[in-house]
Amino acid sequence: MHEFKYKGKDLYCEDIKIADLARRFGTPLYVYSYHTLVDHFTKLKNAFREINPLICYSVKANSNLAILKALIDKGAGLDIVSGGELFRALKAGCPAKKIVYASVGKTGSEIEEAIKKGILFFNVESIGELENITRISKKLGKVTNVAIRINPDVEPKTHKYITTGKLTNKFGIDFKSAQQIFLLRRALKNIRISGLHIHIGSQITESQPYVAAITKMISFINKLKAEGVVIDYLNIGGGLGIVYDKETPQTAIDYAGKILPLLKRTGLKIIMEPGRFIVGNAGVLVTKVLYVKKTPKKEFVIVDAGMNDLVRPSLYEAYHNILLLQETGDPDVHLRFSRDRRQETAKVDIVGPICESGDFLAKERMMPRLKEGDYLAVMSAGAYGFSMSSNYNSRKRAQEVMVVNKRAILIRKRETNQDLIRNEIMPKGSL
Ligand code: LLP
Repeated sequence: MHEFKYKGKDLYCEDIKIADLARRFGTPLYVYSYHTLVDHFTKLKNAFREINPLICYSVKANSNLAILKALIDKGAGLDIVSGGELFRALKAGCPAKKIVYASVGKTGSEIEEAIKKGILFFNVESIGELENITRISKKLGKVTNVAIRINPDVEPKTHKYITTGKLTNKFGIDFKSAQQIFLLRRALKNIRISGLHIHIGSQITESQPYVAAITKMISFINKLKAEGVVIDYLNIGGGLGIVYDKETPQTAIDYAGKILPLLKRTGLKIIMEPGRFIVGNAGVLVTKVLYVKKTPKKEFVIVDAGMNDLVRPSLYEAYHNILLLQETGDPDVHLRFSRDRRQETAKVDIVGPICESGDFLAKERMMPRLKEGDYLAVMSAGAYGFSMSSNYNSRKRAQEVMVVNKRAILIRKRETNQDLIRNEIMPKGSL
C-alpha cells in the first residue's frame, strides 16, 4: 500500500497534488509520503510482534535525516555501513545501542569511532576485520560486541548485482571458518561474539530463500550450542522485495508466517535490517519533460532527471513505473493541447540530459502522448534513489520533500553551483 494515487485526473501524494509541489519546489524533486514510510515499518513490526525484534532500518536505502528521524521516533534502530552513516544515524537521534554496523571494508578509524560511540555490534565480514577490531578494542581498553556475518550460500533469486549470500559474493564468512572463529574465541580477549548475521540479497520476493538460509543457521546454532557457545542475537538482514511492476512479493504477514516458527526455535533476540521494504514505495521522483524528439528509429522523451538522480534503470535495467501527473507545468502548454491527446499513446524512451547513452529512466515504454512541460512521476523511487545519486555532469542533486499531515516539508535543499565546487582547491598562479 502506498499513498500515491490519482484523485480525478491528478496524481496526489497523500492529500497534496504532486504537480503543485513540482511547481513550488521545481524539478527534479523527490517526494516522500510520511504515512507510507511509517505504515511499512509498522506492518513489519506488527507481523513480528510476538518476538519483538529490533528493526534496524538500512540507512543506505535512503539516508535523509528526516527519513531516519521519522523511523527512529517509531522505535527503529539503524543498520549502517560506513563512518558517514554512523554520523547520520547519531545526528538523527538514534541511540548508539540500536545501531548495527556491516560492510566488508570497515577502516581502522571507522571501527574506532563506532567503538567509542558504543554501537550495539559490528557485523564482522572477515577474519582480518575481526583481528583489526580486536587490536583497536585492546588499544581503547574495551571489550567490543560483534556478530559474525555468515555467508550461507543460498540462492535468493534476484538480480545478480544484488545477490549477497552466495559463496561467489564478497560478503560474510563461510560456516566452516566461522566455526573456527568460535573455537578460538577465548583467545580473542577484547571481543565478545554476541550474535550471528546473514543478509542474502535484495528485492527478494519469496520467503523460500529466507527459510533455506535460516534453516542452515539453526543447524549451525545447534552445533555451536553443543560446543558450549552462547550467543544472544540472530540478525536476519533485509532484502524484502516490493512491487515495481508486476511482482507479487510476500507481504510482511506472509514473511512472518514462514519464518517466525523458525526464529522462535532459536530462542535468540532477533534483529532485521529492511531498507527497500520500508522506504521503496514511499517515494517518487518528479521530473519535467524538456523536449520530445523523434528520430527515424525512435521517439525520445527528454526529461530533466537523469541517471545521476536515479541510477537504478541504468545500473540494473530496473523497471520503474512512470506516471503522468496529468497537468502540464506551464499553463500555456496546458491550454494549447486538448485533453484528447491523453487518449493517444506512443512507445518512447524516457531519457535524461546526461551525456551517456545509458542515461534512461525507461525504454520502449508505452506512454500517453507527452509534451514539453508535462510532469512525470517515476514511481517506487524511495529506496536507492536519492541515496545513489551523484553530481555527474556537474548536476546539482535534487531537492527532497516529505508530505506529512497535509503539509509538504522541504527535507533537502537543491544543491547550488557553490556546493558543486565546495571542496575543490584552485591552485594559485600558473601551473
Ligand atoms: N543489510 C545489509 C547488510 C545490506 O547490505 C542491505 C542492502 C540491507 C540490509 C538492506 O537491503 P534491502 O532491505 O533494502 O533489500 N542498490 C540496489 C540494492 C542494494 C542493496 C545493498 N544492501 C538496488 O537499487 O536495487
